[in-house]
Amino acid sequence: MSIEQLAETAQAMVAAGKGIIAIDESTSTIAKRFAGVGIENTEENRRAYRELLLTTPKLSDYISGAILYDETIRQSTKDGVPFAKYMAQHGIIPGIKVDKGTHPLAGCPGEVVTEGLDGLRDRLKEYYALGARFAKWRAVINIGEDIPTGTCIEANAHALARYAALCQEAGLVPMVEPEVLMDGEHDIQTCYEVTEAVLRSLFAALYEHNVLLEGTILKASMVVPGKDCPDQADVEEVAESTVMCLKSTVPAILPGIVFLSGGQSDEDATAHLDAMNRLGALPWPLSFSYGRAMQQAALKLWSEDLKGNFAKAQSTVYARAKDNGLAALGKWEG
Ligand code: 13P
Repeated sequence: MSIEQLAETAQAMVAAGKGIIAIDESTSTIAKRFAGVGIENTEENRRAYRELLLTTPKLSDYISGAILYDETIRQSTKDGVPFAKYMAQHGIIPGIKVDKGTHPLAGCPGEVVTEGLDGLRDRLKEYYALGARFAKWRAVINIGEDIPTGTCIEANAHALARYAALCQEAGLVPMVEPEVLMDGEHDIQTCYEVTEAVLRSLFAALYEHNVLLEGTILKASMVVPGKDCPDQADVEEVAESTVMCLKSTVPAILPGIVFLSGGQSDEDATAHLDAMNRLGALPWPLSFSYGRAMQQAALKLWSEDLKGNFAKAQSTVYARAKDNGLAALGKWEG
């Protein structure tokens, strides 16, 4: 696989005014989302829901790609068109979640490491054949008393780098995601310091493993106070802290950075992205790769009337894509 092809895919993922929709919830995670709105977690319901999202009319106006789960990339529309094929025909780059989730990190109480490297080379080959052109791996960093430890940060950075190198070997753009969780009482400064350490460690590991940054996308968490911190930050502070942290850690050659929403409200996720893009010239496009902040309104509508609200739910997906696409340009009107 040539670096030119990887770079072309990476640039298309962060094309001006476009972002990614993350619909790669594992079967157990989508079970929680469905349970929240009273939908039974059957394979057909998961397929029908992903069809609703992916077949939203004119989705590619604001969406460059979608991240799928293993089950989803093997599924088709009700008319029998494989989702990955449908996406490619409609200008949406297929992506795939390839990690196998987090597990307790032995020796480090309260911390986790993401697994899934065993057999990954063969799985990536198969995903490429199924149409995927980028792949996501999510590492999770908890903030708490005496954590994160350097051991946890390094173990996760090492796994991210090994997965990223394997992706590029297979012709897939790695979307490296080190998520610093919002859970906890910590303040925004603590989140800043942890995020800075995590990103420094990640880019050092990517360098050690000969990962080509020109063909890599960073999926970052924003610098925000913990959900239970009494001292919440306003939109400007989140935007300025996040951009400063990224500028001091992320090489300018990276084609782009996309954010996860991590439990923020739809409005906050959009407002934060918009405010960052109003801060003046940046070294890389800043866009979105939201899961919940793209889907939650549509899921609620769909759950109220699966057939009757199908089109209404799709127009909500389109509206969220439009708002976030405008925010990626710093042109959201609120
Ligand atoms: P959220 O935007 O819901 O955090 O999901 C994004 C994602 O893909 C996390 O891995």
